[in-house]
Amino acid sequence: MTRPRQRIVVCRGQYCNLSRRADAILKALEPLLDAANGDDYPKPIKLEIANCLSHCGAGPNLIIYPQGVVCHQVQPADLPDLLDRHLLKPDGSPS
Ligand code: FES
Repeated sequence: MTRPRQRIVVCRGQYCNLSRRADAILKALEPLLDAANGDDYPKPIKLEIANCLSHCGAGPNLIIYPQGVVCHQVQPADLPDLLDRHLLKPDGSPS
């Protein structure tokens, strides 16, 4: 069974990365996505970096596609719960 494709876009723009907080999100997110992707190739969950997601005042921000879930004021500690709630199950159903 082919797993559903998803994309997580993390803003690393000027506001979201104040005090390197977007970098901290990326650092925490990468191993979580590695674990979620497992050995599947191509990786079903792709990590992308944006320069701005046009929600600067609410940053740090990330968006999870294809659902288009916009997450504001993300902290590294929030990531496991965010992934639990928004990553699709292997059959494509919402988690
Ligand atoms: S700098 Fe992140 S939304 Fe604009």
